[in-house]
Order: sequence, then structure tokens, then C-alpha cells
Amino acid sequence: MTIDESTLFTKAITAMKNAYAPYSHYSVGAAIVTEDNEVYTGVNIENASYGLTNCAERTAIFKAVSEGHRKIKAIIIVNGTKELSKPCGACRQVISEFMGPEGQVFLANKDNDHQEYKFKQILPLAFSDKDMD
Ligand code: THU
Repeated sequence: MTIDESTLFTKAITAMKNAYAPYSHYSVGAAIVTEDNEVYTGVNIENASYGLTNCAERTAIFKAVSEGHRKIKAIIIVNGTKELSKPCGACRQVISEFMGPEGQVFLANKDNDHQEYKFKQILPLAFSDKDMD
């Protein structure tokens, strides 16, 4: 990865200040690196109709895709607690649309304690377009 992990962490935790989480009080920030080394950040955006909440990872991905990007090579997810961030199942599926099995995934906490995974480790047996051939 051209962009180092600590730079990515700083971008994600800075973005996290914009999380809109008045219901859960659980703020999340994500930063992704596109194939051509552009960084997009995202935060969770909650809604009084709870089910309409958008997770930080999906916000970041949708920003990048809407700007024309289609391939993500790294993602970091942070939150405001001491627990490492764990992307929900829906976000793992959305990540899988744009990240290959060898993509880098950093799960971090507010202090940048983190664990690194390959994407295939956090979503084995992902459903993809190939399943519809
Ligand atoms: N959340 C994320 O932003 N990403 C995840 O992968 C897990 C959950 C958010 C959604 C909601 O605003 C809050 O965390 C509590 O579920």
C-alpha cells in the first residue's frame, strides 16, 4: 500500500468527528484507498427511523464509487471505544463488491490498536457476480 496505515488511521479518526450517531452514541469512521491511491472517508449517519442508518464503511465506499472509482485496495475502520471495529455483515458484502480477496483490512480502535486482515479472512464464501453465471 502506498498510503501508510498511520496516515489512513488519522484520516479515519478525523472524519469520525463528523459521525452522526445521536441514537447509538457509537461513532464510526472509515477510510478507503482506491486503486489509484485516492483516499475517501466516511462516517455512520443514523436516522430516527433506525433502519435507514448508513454505516461508515458504506458511506466511504459510496462516496468513492459515485466519483467513478471501482476498485478498493485497503480500508481502515475506527470507532470511539477501546474495542476494535468490526464491520457488520451488510458492509462486508458491500466491501466485497469493490475489494478483492487479497485487499487489506485494518480493524482499529480509538487508540489505533489494530489488527490487519486480508479481505477473504473476514468474508469467506462471499456471494458475488460469479455465483450468477
Ligand atoms: N456501524 C457502522 O458504522 N459500521 C459497522 O460496520 C457497524 C455499525 C454503525 C451503525 C450505527 O450507527 C452504529 O454503528 C451502531 O450500530
